[in-house]
Amino acid sequence: MMEKIVINTSVPYEVLLENGLLGHAGEVTARVVEGRRVMIVCDGKIAPQYLNTVQDAFERNGFETSLCLLHGGEKGKTLATVEQLITAAAKADLGHDSLFAALGGGVTGDITGLAAALYMRGIDWIQLPTTLLAMADAAAGGKTAVNAAGEKNLLGAFHQPRLVLCDPEVLKTLPLPLLNEGMAEIVKYGAVGSTKLLDSIRNGERPEMLIAACIRMKAAIVEHDEHDRGQRRLLNFGHTFGHALERLNDFTIYHGEGVAVGMLIAAFAAVKHGLCPASVYEELRLLLKMNHLPVNTRFRAAEIARIALRDKKRNGDMITVVIPSARGRCELFSMPTRELEGFIACCDENVTACSEDKIREV
Ligand SMILES: NC(=O)c1ccc[n+]([C@@H]2O[C@H](COP(=O)([O-])OP(=O)(O)OC[C@H]3O[C@@H](n4cnc5c(N)ncnc54)[C@H](O)[C@@H]3O)[C@@H](O)[C@H]2O)c1
Ligand SMILES: [Zn+2]
Repeated sequence: MMEKIVINTSVPYEVLLENGLLGHAGEVTARVVEGRRVMIVCDGKIAPQYLNTVQDAFERNGFETSLCLLHGGEKGKTLATVEQLITAAAKADLGHDSLFAALGGGVTGDITGLAAALYMRGIDWIQLPTTLLAMADAAAGGKTAVNAAGEKNLLGAFHQPRLVLCDPEVLKTLPLPLLNEGMAEIVKYGAVGSTKLLDSIRNGERPEMLIAACIRMKAAIVEHDEHDRGQRRLLNFGHTFGHALERLNDFTIYHGEGVAVGMLIAAFAAVKHGLCPASVYEELRLLLKMNHLPVNTRFRAAEIARIALRDKKRNGDMITVVIPSARGRCELFSMPTRELEGFIACCDENVTACSEDKIREV
């Protein structure tokens, strides 16, 4: 059965979730956009598996298609790749009446969205997410970005897609480490706002149900805070330290793996400072372990704090981190930047500075 979730942003759009949906991408897209020229953006791993299906689906419905093939991977999330995409669009003679279709994971989505925001001062785009992480989290919400100056997502824009089509069938070809990585963001949604979702994860609920639960939560949050100034920042749980870990590992770990350990750093520190019950940390750790995610890192808290302070969430002399305060609840917690290192120093007992580093090389 098709699941339909409306994201009520400045220009509302639908997220649809159904097996086999990629094969109907053309007819569904034709209902929401006027243009009939589409540039499909995907990487070399996705192209042999799904490009034909999507291209046929568009062409059967009167779209003229062109293609931009990316190298893929977090290291390719750069302005140079955005330029590659924009050059391909210009060569294909795409104008205001055209759209980009991002077919792939969060990396493809973030790059394509930023290119769509910039090309001719903004053209339409749609998302066809193919990873668990992208379906559950990245594809909806309109955050687009690339890494720059060695910093994660330093260059970005808010540019909402016109449509998001999730086809869970494609998860069958997703390698296991990437399914696990997606679970990290799903655990994040549970920790931020849903004890029911935490229960579902524990009970091994089907991915479709988990994806839908996350998108519904995101819709409710983004509707009130499209531009990340208030409650939406709770969705950064685990990200201040997670991004630091991605950087410390030179972007060779999966985003979700950084987020997993990042959430545990924030949670462990919150427990030690009496801001959160220990059971919340224990459950998070259990759920991450159940999904074969790393629960510690060899980097020390001091190093992680130093890198985290370069994060965008810093505001002058203050930094805001998201910490859990109860089961299924998180809060924004601000402190002077000089206190961050001391705040997480206790993690060297348990989460950080651990010789056993379960983070995988991508
Ligand atoms: N914009 C947002 O709101 C938001 C939210 C969360 C994460 N992100 C970003 O998302 C990125 C991570 O995305 P990701 O985890 O999807 O990784 P990814 O986009 O790098 O994809 C991982 C790999 O999986 C392959 N792949 C994708 N789908 C497949 C499938 N169905 N079958 C086989 N192989 C497949 C891809 O080709 C790629 O090599 C990070 O850069 C992160 O910052 C953005
Ligand atoms: Zn994330």
